[in-house]
Amino acid sequence: MTHDAARRNYDRLSRWYDWFAGSEKRFTEAGLRLLDPQPGERVLEIGPGIGHALVRLAQAGTRVVGLDLSAGMLARARRAGKRSGSEADLCQGDAFALPFPSRTFHAVFLSFTLELFEDAEIPGVLAECARVLKPVGRLGVVSLAKENTRPVRLYEWCHRRWPQVVDCRPIHVHAALIAAGFEVREAQRMVMWGLPVEIVVGQPE
Ligand SMILES: C[S@@+](CC[C@H](N)C(=O)[O-])C[C@H]1O[C@@H](n2cnc3c(N)ncnc32)[C@H](O)[C@@H]1O
Repeated sequence: MTHDAARRNYDRLSRWYDWFAGSEKRFTEAGLRLLDPQPGERVLEIGPGIGHALVRLAQAGTRVVGLDLSAGMLARARRAGKRSGSEADLCQGDAFALPFPSRTFHAVFLSFTLELFEDAEIPGVLAECARVLKPVGRLGVVSLAKENTRPVRLYEWCHRRWPQVVDCRPIHVHAALIAAGFEVREAQRMVMWGLPVEIVVGQPE
C-alpha cells in the first residue's frame, strides 16, 4: 500500500477502530509499563490511532506528542484527549520523515504500527526514531511477532488476501531493533488470539 492509500484507509477505519483497539489495549498497556514513562519526559507516539496510549502518557505526566498519517485517527485521538481531560500535542505526519529536530524525545513509542511497514522500510522508520531520541532515550515497540506457527501462517494468509483490513503483519521485532543499532533492554512476549505479541524496549547504542 502507498502511504496515500494507507492514509485514506485509516481515515475510513477511524470511524469503527474501537473494535480493533479494544482487543489491543492490554498489550499497549503492557508496552507502556515496560517503557516506564516519567513525569516531565518528552514522549513521541508514532501511529497513536484513536489515542488510548496518548491519554495514558499524558496522565503519567509526560509531555506527549502523537504523530499519525491519518487526519481521521487524529480527530478521534483529539476527542479521546478532551473526554479524559488530558493533553497531547497532535500532528499529522509520516513516520519516515519525523518533523522534529534530532535528540528531542526521552522516549518514542509505537504500538501495532511498526509492523505496517515493509521489511525494507523498517530500518528507515527506526533510523528516524533513533534520530529524534536523546542519547539515553528509550524506544518502546509493541508488535505482532513472526514465528513459524499455524496461527501466524493463517494470519499471514489473511494479510495477503485482505491487506487493507488485515494490514499489520508479524515481524522479527527484536532483530529489527538490533539491526537498527538499538540495544534491547527489556522484552516481554504475550499472546493475542493465538498470535505472539512482542514488546521490546531498546536504547540507541
Ligand atoms: C494499526 S493502527 C495502531 C493504532 C494504535 N497505536 C493502537 O495500538 O491501537 C496504526 C496507526 O498508524 C498510523 N500510520 C500508518 N502509517 C503511518 C505512517 N507512515 N506514519 C505515521 N502513522 C502511520 C495509522 O493511521 C494508524 O493510526
